[in-house]
Amino acid sequence: QIATLSVIAHEWSTDAEYGQLLENLSKDESLTWEQKRNIDLSLEEYQKHQKYTSAVVQKMSASVSKAFNAWQAARKANDFQVFVPALEEIIQLKREEAKLLGYEGHPYNALLNEYEPGATVEMIDELFVGVKSSLLQLLDKINASQKPVNSFAGKKFETDPQWKMSVQFLEKMGYDFKAGRQDFAAHPFCTNFNSKDVRVTTRANEDDIFDMLSSTIHEGGHALYEQGLLYENYGLPAGTYISLGIHESQSRLWENNVGRSEAFWKDNYSILEKAFPVECKGVNVQDVFLSNNIVEPSLIRVQADELTYHFHVMIRYELEKRLIEGSLEVKDLKDEWNKMYRQYLGIEVPSDNQGVLQDVHWSHGSFGYFPTYSLGSFYAAQFFQQATKEIPNLEQKIASGDLLVLKEWLNKNIHQYGRLYDAEEICKKVTGEGLNFDYFYQYLSGKLAKVYGW
Ligand code: CO
Repeated sequence: QIATLSVIAHEWSTDAEYGQLLENLSKDESLTWEQKRNIDLSLEEYQKHQKYTSAVVQKMSASVSKAFNAWQAARKANDFQVFVPALEEIIQLKREEAKLLGYEGHPYNALLNEYEPGATVEMIDELFVGVKSSLLQLLDKINASQKPVNSFAGKKFETDPQWKMSVQFLEKMGYDFKAGRQDFAAHPFCTNFNSKDVRVTTRANEDDIFDMLSSTIHEGGHALYEQGLLYENYGLPAGTYISLGIHESQSRLWENNVGRSEAFWKDNYSILEKAFPVECKGVNVQDVFLSNNIVEPSLIRVQADELTYHFHVMIRYELEKRLIEGSLEVKDLKDEWNKMYRQYLGIEVPSDNQGVLQDVHWSHGSFGYFPTYSLGSFYAAQFFQQATKEIPNLEQKIASGDLLVLKEWLNKNIHQYGRLYDAEEICKKVTGEGLNFDYFYQYLSGKLAKVYGW
C-alpha cells in the first residue's frame, strides 16, 4: 500500500504541467524575494523528483517495507544475522540512489543532503574531529570525579501524576492544545499535518521520572516549531521546516538548555513535589538538577546523557559512511559496531538488541540522518546563547515560570521563516555567525562544572 501511494505522490510531484508552471514563474521578474525563493526551492524539488523513475520509487519503498519487517524479526530473535540480507539490499539501493541524485566528493553527500541540505562529509568530518577530542577530554575529567547521587534511583513513579505534569509543562511552553494533542506511544514522536494540527506523543517509565518529562519537552519543542510555521504558507517551502538539524535544535533547546537547567527546576520543583510527595521527601531543587545531569557511558543512544550522546552519533556516522563507500560490508557491521563502542565509550555490547539493532533508521533506509542529531544540539546551544543575550534576564524569567518569552523569540527569529533561509543562513541571521561548536562546549562544560563541583 505504501509503495502504491509513493508512486502516486511521485507522479503528481513530477507532473509535466506543474514543471512548466514552475519554469515560467522562475523567469518572472515581478516576483518578490519571498515568492522567488518559494519557486526556486519548489523547482529544485521538482528537478530532484525527476531523477527518480516510478519503478525506482516503488522498488525502494518495497525494500524498505521488507527491511523494516526483517529488522523487527531480528529484534525479536536478538540476532543481527536475521537482518543482514535485507540491509544489504538497502545499502545497494542507497548507493544507487546517491549516483542517481548526483554528488560532489563523497557519495554520502547525496544522502546527507536529503536531511540537511548544504551539509557535506567534509564539513561534518571537520566538525566531529573537534567534537571528539573535546568531549573525550571532558569525559576523562568526569571519570576521575566523584559521581553525583541520583536521588530518584530505585523509586517508583506512577503514570497518572507524570502524565498530568507533562501536560502542564507543554502548556507552560506555549504548546497550543487547540492545534494539537498529546497521546502515549512506545517511541515518542511529533507528527503534523499543518500548523493547526501538530500532535505529540510521550511514554511513561515508572522507574525513571525524567523519561516522560524529557520526552514531552523534547517533542514539545518540535511541535512549537511546526505550530510556529505560518499557516498562510502551508504547502510552500516557506511553510516547511529548514532541515532536520534545525528541527532537532528546537527540541533540544527545550529539552536540554531549558529542561535540564537549574533555573527550570527552581520553578518546577514544586510541581514535582506536589505530584510525588513521598518520592521527593528529603530531595531538594539542587538534587533534581544533579540527578538529571549525570554523565555515564551507556549502550542505548536514546537514553544517553548530553555528552556521551554524541559518541553514539559519531559511531553511526562513521559506519554509515563506510557502508556507503563500500569499505565496510554489512556482514562485518556488528563486529565493527562493538569494536567502536569499546574504543569510544569503553563498554562491551552484550547483545545485538542493545547494539547494532537498537535504531530503526537503517531499516527505514534513512542513511545520512544521524549527524543531524548532533548538529541539532550544537545549533541549540548557539541559539540559546543568543536568546540569553537578547532577552533581558532570561534565566530569571525561566526560574519564575515565564517560558512564553522564549517561545515568542523562537517564533519571531526562526519559526516564521520556514525554509526562506537555509540552516547556515538562519544561524548567521540569528547569531551573527555560522555553526560554531564552541557554544555547545561552553554550555556543557559550564553545566558539568556545577554538577561535578569543579
Ligand atoms: Co527529536
